[in-house]
Amino acid sequence: MAKYNLNINGKQHDVDVDPATPMLWVLRDHLDLVGTKYGCGIAQCGACTVLLGDVAVRSCSVPVSQVGEQKITTIEGLSEKGDHPLQVAWLENDVPQCGYCQAGQIMNAAALLKANPNPTDEEIEAAMNGNLCRCGTYTRIKKAIKAAAQR
Ligand code: FES
Ligand code: FES
Repeated sequence: MAKYNLNINGKQHDVDVDPATPMLWVLRDHLDLVGTKYGCGIAQCGACTVLLGDVAVRSCSVPVSQVGEQKITTIEGLSEKGDHPLQVAWLENDVPQCGYCQAGQIMNAAALLKANPNPTDEEIEAAMNGNLCRCGTYTRIKKAIKAAAQR
C-alpha cells in the first residue's frame, strides 16, 4: 500500500492503495465517483475515459502511481451544474440509449474540443473511434459534438 494525494475535479483526495491500482477503481471504489464506468478493463472500449490534464485517458489502464500531480477530471467534475456545452448538446440531441458508455464518450469528446474546438466530421470520427457504444448512438454523438463546438 502507498499513500497518494490526488487532484480530482478540483479537490485534493488522500487515498492509501496498492500502487498498481488502476485509477478507475480508485475513483469508483475509494472515492465513490461512479460516473466513470468499467467496460473491458483492457483499454479497448473507452467506457472508463477521464481527463488527465487535458488529455483523455483510459482510467482502467492508468495505475494510480502514474498520476502524480496531474489533474484528473471525471464526468462529475466536467461542469458544476451539468451544463458543459457537450452535456447540453447531449440532452438536446437525446444521445444516450442505455447510457453505459456515455460518460466515457463525453469525456473523450471534451478532450477533443479542448485540443480542436472546431473539428471536422473526419476529425470527430478519428477522435471518437475507440469509444464503443453497444447501442449504436454514434450518429447522435457526432451531431452533439458538432452542436457543442458551435456553442
Ligand atoms: S474499461 Fe477502460 S477502456 Fe474499457
Ligand atoms: S448508450 Fe448503450 S452502450 Fe452506448
